[in-house]
Amino acid sequence: MTTILVTGATGTIGANVVSELQKLGAKVRVATRDTSKAPKGTEAVDFAWDDAAKVAQAVAGVDAVFLLTPLVENSVPYVQTLVDAAKKAGVKKIVKLSAGGADNPSFDLLKRHTEGEQVVRDSGIAWVALRPNFFMTNFVAYYPPDAEGAIYLPTGEGKAAWMDPRDVAEVAALALTKPDWDNRALELSGPAALSVADVAQLLSTVSGRTIRHVDVPESAAKSAMEGMQLPGWMVEGMLGLHGVVKQGWAATPTTTVKDVTGHAPRTFEAFAKENASAWKK
Ligand SMILES: NC(=O)c1ccc[n+]([C@@H]2O[C@H](COP(=O)([O-])OP(=O)(O)OC[C@H]3O[C@@H](n4cnc5c(N)ncnc54)[C@H](OP(=O)(O)O)[C@@H]3O)[C@@H](O)[C@H]2O)c1
Repeated sequence: MTTILVTGATGTIGANVVSELQKLGAKVRVATRDTSKAPKGTEAVDFAWDDAAKVAQAVAGVDAVFLLTPLVENSVPYVQTLVDAAKKAGVKKIVKLSAGGADNPSFDLLKRHTEGEQVVRDSGIAWVALRPNFFMTNFVAYYPPDAEGAIYLPTGEGKAAWMDPRDVAEVAALALTKPDWDNRALELSGPAALSVADVAQLLSTVSGRTIRHVDVPESAAKSAMEGMQLPGWMVEGMLGLHGVVKQGWAATPTTTVKDVTGHAPRTFEAFAKENASAWKK
């Protein structure tokens, strides 16, 4: 049976990758800093990105790796450590979670994905780069409405083709277990381009509250993040990401989810209905 190592396995994308792989009958090894959090039916391995010995232990004996780096200032050395260990261990494939726009990065945080993709491509191991659009879950994890129902974001009327993390995970699981997309970068998106105001309207409908987008100048968003003591690299990264939405650079839906999985990508309407409790007061 194929054994697959999943990094980031307790997070938004990784947890879904684990369950999709289990549905496909793969044996899953979960890399985590806290092995008690490993999902049922998986093998847990104590993991730390900056500990080469732990990384080597994690990749030993696996066929393929799902490589997801967390939000850190510079993830490239993490990718390098894992790729070096994977080469030594004879891993046959690496599927790297990257980000939409990594082919033409406009700010440092995105450039890290571009550089990480390059490290994986240079390894000589079969690879797939997944470049997803913005996640729908960001409206739960990163910018939920405040107590008054306001979502303050400097995105203007810009749109993105927000996607359901489960679609990313389904594509990842298939890419990990089949050769069909080897040595390719896959641009992934949801089915439709929506502005933050469009999303707020959907969240209002499912939650029964009035939720609205408040467009703010970039300078105000920057001051607010600095006021929350976010480090400079993260403030710059978040402003870069919001700029991508504002400019409409992530507004073109792709057909990749349908092409790979055979079904249309999940809609924001469906995601909002399923997760309505997240936006009720
Ligand atoms: N959000 C978006 O719209 C979007 C769009 C495109 C691409 N991406 C990319 O997606 C990736 C993030 O995926 P995600 O949202 O699924 O991640 P996540 O939910 O934040 O989970 C990341 C996991 O990484 C592990 N981890 C290891 N070291 C960590 C550290 N120092 N700090 C925090 N977590 C650490 C944690 O697991 P343990 O605690 O078990 O170790 C955590 O569960 C990033 O590379 C990002 O650039 C995001």
